[in-house]
This record gives sequence, structure tokens and C-alpha cells, in this order.
Amino acid sequence: MDVRILPSLLAADFGCLADGCRRAETAGGDALHLDIMDGHFVPNLSFGGDVVAMARRATRLPLNVHLMMEQPDRYVDRFVDAGAATVLIHIEASCPVADVLAAIRRRGAACGVTLKPGTPAAAVAPLLGLVDEVLVMTVEPGYGGQAFMAGMLPKLATIRRAANALGRRELTLMVDGGIDVATAALCAAQGANAFVAGSSLFRLADMGAGVRAMRAAAAASLRTEP
Ligand code: DX5
Ligand code: ZN
Repeated sequence: MDVRILPSLLAADFGCLADGCRRAETAGGDALHLDIMDGHFVPNLSFGGDVVAMARRATRLPLNVHLMMEQPDRYVDRFVDAGAATVLIHIEASCPVADVLAAIRRRGAACGVTLKPGTPAAAVAPLLGLVDEVLVMTVEPGYGGQAFMAGMLPKLATIRRAANALGRRELTLMVDGGIDVATAALCAAQGANAFVAGSSLFRLADMGAGVRAMRAAAAASLRTEP
């Protein structure tokens, strides 16, 4: 199974977001992660579809769009049409989650489901056959630069084992929040294979070295049968 590193645009300089997209590509990121916050599902606001469309023009990287929205069903078409390769919605959102995941695929993108820290692994079990990616939040969503929650590690192992038991060994299991070289390795040891990283990568003068170090650490620790 491949390790994938996704720089998060939330940590880029908002004065030159297109440069941030290009930095992620030049650094060797596998995809660009974009955080959409609606001020309801999370207290913060970030950016919307126009920024996703800008990113589509600025980089060839696949766009991985994380909707922290109370009603993502109202917007998924907009984000797929703006160029998202993958759209992730929250299992805690106020919408028929399975139907919205199917709608994302019908519109032409891959789909994923995301769990806040307080949501147990068991909640995602009925959806494992319907998604390309499961994203386990390792901080409370809403802000970059927060500390990694080690209490999420058992959740990763539980979800990886459940996916394996269903024959979904190729499922992408992603983590987001407080991810750096050390915490990426901890998550990989519990079955995570995709790593969203904002501040730990964008603050580096040499983001490429950071991506390579994170990829090497995760690959060395990756256990897909945790
Ligand atoms: C947080 C976002 C993250 C954020 C991570 O709600 O979902 O994608 O960019 O930022 P860091 O890596 O700084 O914790
Ligand atoms: Zn995110």
C-alpha cells in the first residue's frame, strides 16, 4: 500500500495561495488538501469553491477537498465542478450521508467520510463499502496548528481491521491534524496510509525535505494489519 502525503493549503500564506499550491506540488506532495469551513459545523470560516477552482488552475496535483460543513449536500456539486478529485464529508453532518457520498461519485469524484475525535470507529462501519477514503480527525476540526490527539490511534487500528475484514484492503485511511514526521509514524503503525499536514510542512524553508522525511517515516512504520 502506498503512503500519500497531502500538504494542507490552510497553512499557506493567504496572500499568495497559488504559490502555496505550487509549493505543495514542487515539494512532492501526492495531492493538495483544501479545508472548507462554514462557520456552523466548525466555528471558523476558511474559503470556498472559487479557491478550489484557483487551485485547479495553479497545480496539477489532485485536489482533496474536506468539507467541514453542516449541510455539505448543498455544495458537493459545486466542489466537484470546481475540480475536486475527492470530496470528503463529515459523518456528523446534517444530511443523508450515504446518499451524499453516492452523489459525489455520480458527479465524477471519489468520496470520503470524516470522523471528528468524539465519533467512535463503529459509526463508520456501515459506510466502509461505500467510500474511497476514511479520514480520522486527530484534532478537533476548525483550526490548523493544534496538538495531535494520541487518543485517536486505537480508532485507526479498529477502522483498518474492519476494512480488511470486508475485503477493502485498498481503503485509504487518512489522518488530519497535528501531523508531523513523528505523529505520521505513530498513525502509520496503526494502519493510516495518507497524511494531511499543514503547519509542519508549510513552515519549512525546504518543504520537499519535509515531505520526503514524512513519507520515509510513515513507510517504515506502516502496518496494514495492525
Ligand atoms: C483542521 C483541518 C486541517 C488543518 C491541519 O480542521 O482539517 O486540514 O489544515 O492543520 P495542521 O497540520 O496544522 O494541524
Ligand atoms: Zn482537513
